[in-house]
Amino acid sequence: MASVLPARAQSPESPPDTMAERVLACAPCHGAQGEGTRDPYFPRLAGKPSGYLYNQLIAFRNGRRRYPPMNYLLAFLPPEYLKEMADYFASLNPPLPPPSVPAVAEDALNAGRTLVTQGDATRSIPACTSCHGPNLTGMEPGIPGLLGLRPNYISAQLGAWRYGTRTALSPDCMQVVAGHLTEADVTAIAAWLSSRPAPAERRSVPQGTYALPFACGSQPQ
Ligand code: HEC
Ligand code: HEC
Repeated sequence: MASVLPARAQSPESPPDTMAERVLACAPCHGAQGEGTRDPYFPRLAGKPSGYLYNQLIAFRNGRRRYPPMNYLLAFLPPEYLKEMADYFASLNPPLPPPSVPAVAEDALNAGRTLVTQGDATRSIPACTSCHGPNLTGMEPGIPGLLGLRPNYISAQLGAWRYGTRTALSPDCMQVVAGHLTEADVTAIAAWLSSRPAPAERRSVPQGTYALPFACGSQPQ
């Protein structure tokens, strides 16, 4: 009978050969193509800059970012392996989900658009587009796009930065940005971003396409 078993079943110790097999553990939460799932807190991974994804995997592995199932899953994986997983998800390009129907009033939506596209100089809030790009598609290697994410996930991340449970490489520019936002700002921004349709060109722009308003440790200039 042994001869009909697939090779792997005969040697359970050997790791899976292909990346597609290796990332099966990620699929229940992030989707088979890294497109995300119905759970509003499980983010899309596909098409984000590889450097950004790698920084996040390292952050979960060493506790700079906290979500116990992910901290546990990555705890013993070597950096080269994390790099390969980041490259893999960065290379995928499934369609973005349809925009969400905003659950906030029209004026909150307008406030969200103004903060994202212009910021609020009186409160030291830079335009999100100044780093995430005019089309919000991000910039290689370390700045992710902000479209195709659900409002609950966006709010949770901005909240995590405000309360210090998510940190990025120093200087952590997002901690500075999030520190200037109120709860109402976060709700408005999350609602407006998630209501945006997918841009025609979803890829992040190349490194150095524009200068950042101030330094981010995760984005070499
Ligand atoms: C049990 C569900 C679950 C599993 C399994 C899981 N993840 Fe996650 N992952 C999450 C959640 C939830 C977050 C967001 C956590 C937070 O709030 O910061 C996340 C965040 C991430 C992020 C950061 C995304 C971003 O945009 O910042 C990456 C990268 C990631 N996961 C990769 C993986 C990989 C690779 C695997 C498989 C080896 C995996 N995850 C398995 C639930 C999961
Ligand atoms: C000075 C540059 C800069 C500005 C301005 C900026 N960001 Fe960011 N943002 C970054 C960088 C860099 C990262 C990646 C950090 C990391 O490695 O975790 C990031 C990550 C994020 C993430 C995480 C995405 C994910 O998939 O988990 C969100 C959400 C976000 N920014 C929202 C915003 C919003 C909203 C604004 C405007 C109010 C804003 N950012 C302004 C540089 C910036």
